[in-house]
Amino acid sequence: MKILVTGGSGLVGRYVVEALAAEHDVRSWDLREPRSSAFDHLRIDLLDEAAVARAMRPVDAVVHLAGIPHPLNDPPERVFRTNTQTTYNLLEASAAAGVPTFIFMSSESTLGFAFSTTRHWPLRLPVDETHPLRPQDPYGLSKVSCEVVCEGFSRRCAMRTVCLRAPWIWVPEPKEIDFYRSLVREYPRWHKNLWAFIHVEDVVAAIRSALHRDLEKPHDRFFICADENWTGRPSRELAAEFYPESKEMDRSWNGSASFISHARATAALGFHPTGTVQSILN
Ligand SMILES: NC(=O)c1ccc[n+]([C@@H]2O[C@H](COP(=O)([O-])OP(=O)(O)OC[C@H]3O[C@@H](n4cnc5c(N)ncnc54)[C@H](O)[C@@H]3O)[C@@H](O)[C@H]2O)c1
Repeated sequence: MKILVTGGSGLVGRYVVEALAAEHDVRSWDLREPRSSAFDHLRIDLLDEAAVARAMRPVDAVVHLAGIPHPLNDPPERVFRTNTQTTYNLLEASAAAGVPTFIFMSSESTLGFAFSTTRHWPLRLPVDETHPLRPQDPYGLSKVSCEVVCEGFSRRCAMRTVCLRAPWIWVPEPKEIDFYRSLVREYPRWHKNLWAFIHVEDVVAAIRSALHRDLEKPHDRFFICADENWTGRPSRELAAEFYPESKEMDRSWNGSASFISHARATAALGFHPTGTVQSILN
């Protein structure tokens, strides 16, 4: 397959692009240079719609990861504009080039918990795709907006759009691992994250499935995450302590099961995460 990956120089994108380049004809587009030369790279600003339109070629799929991955370091308008406008520009160019599949890296932040400044709690546990999306920060709002735009393009033309909603993506790198260890030590501070994570290799696996699997609907969105929460504590205990308002829980939600359910991704994409807290921290 010919695949265009955006954001291939980023923390997550470099794993994605290197894995896909081993199997496919991969091109990476990013503002920054990549760490590997094993694939073709174009330095491009995806906010420049004319440059995006000029550079686009007919490919079998676009995997869009470029963007600003949280709202904490940049002015809010930059976060929102970068994420939404790059996605819109790429979708327009992809539609014009007849690209059949567009995979968008969405986020758990569509739910609105992670960066909220007012108190929210899960209405049901585990959270799944039926849960209301209530973002209030520029990052979560941008991801919800991008999902809506993806759906609009699937409505407009014969383009499949698949949005993968990942929580914190953990990468097996020493500097990051030190940070994850500090998270586990200070887990109460991170309750808004619902202590959810996914190993970057499981993100790659989900993208591979989304590239190859036939899905029922031209547009769909899936939560993808690890099976467990990252605290080491039973999830029902965490819920009782940090989210006493959350009363509705699946009977099968037990042990250290993730606060987010990937059941739809498992059913539709054959998504079976293998990354665990121990596999990254040890
Ligand atoms: N890191 C996580 O935990 C996490 C969790 C859920 C979803 N995501 C999503 O995954 C994607 C990748 O995240 P990441 O952590 O690798 O972020 P990152 O910041 O490490 O990488 C993003 C890349 O996008 C590029 N980029 C930004 N603006 C651009 C522009 N205008 N034109 C071209 N390239 C541009 C950057 O140069 C960078 O290389 C993002 O869409 C993010 O929202 C990340």
